Amino acid sequence: MVSLEPWGDGDLPLVQQLMGDPAMTEHLGGPESPEKLVERQHRYEQLAGSGEGRMLKIVEENGEAAGSVGYWEKEWRGGQVWEIGWMVLPAFQGRGIAGRATEQAIALAQADGRHRFLHAFPSVENAPSNAICRKLGFSLLGACDFEFPPGHPMRCNDWQLDLEA
Ligand SMILES: CC(C)(COP(=O)(O)OP(=O)(O)OC[C@H]1O[C@@H](n2cnc3c(N)ncnc32)[C@H](O)[C@@H]1OP(=O)(O)O)[C@@H](O)C(=O)NCCC(=O)NCCS
Repeated sequence: MVSLEPWGDGDLPLVQQLMGDPAMTEHLGGPESPEKLVERQHRYEQLAGSGEGRMLKIVEENGEAAGSVGYWEKEWRGGQVWEIGWMVLPAFQGRGIAGRATEQAIALAQADGRHRFLHAFPSVENAPSNAICRKLGFSLLGACDFEFPPGHPMRCNDWQLDLEA
């Protein structure tokens, strides 16, 4: 069992473990600088309570933080959609945690009711993330090119879930 908790003001160490780590960011443009990680922590805190999405901590049964899942607004092909993203620390990977946590986050986005479509944009090379999208019923719309971070081109899959279906 995993549960989701709102991102807290003491969660910078978790941001550092997730986005400051070379293995964790292999498909996300590489580790962020200490300054960028602090900025990210602020963004995550602000998202809570803004109504414009949620950033959540994935918590294991024993209370340990296992990762993050969150969704936020994105302008996409002329409309507003939710974009969702997930990360699970290496010690907790391969146990279905990302899939279960993402399922719970999808239910929250559905309850928020603000946007009909939820998109995920994993790198075409990110096999586990593409497997999660497929398993949770997203439709693959095709591949697209992003720069993330700026200057770092990425080929990503555009997966869409209809929250009203
Ligand atoms: C992607 C990530 C969140 C997966 O976390 P996880 O908890 O290990 O994932 P789960 O165990 O829930 O599920 C992974 C699924 O991918 C499958 N999978 C794992 N490795 C795979 C591979 N090399 N090829 C194909 N499928 C694979 C698993 O079998 C599982 O599917 P199943 O439940 O149908 O068996 C984790 O690897 C991670 O944080 N990576 C770094 C950050 C990142 O890339 N985030 C995603 C950005 S879009």
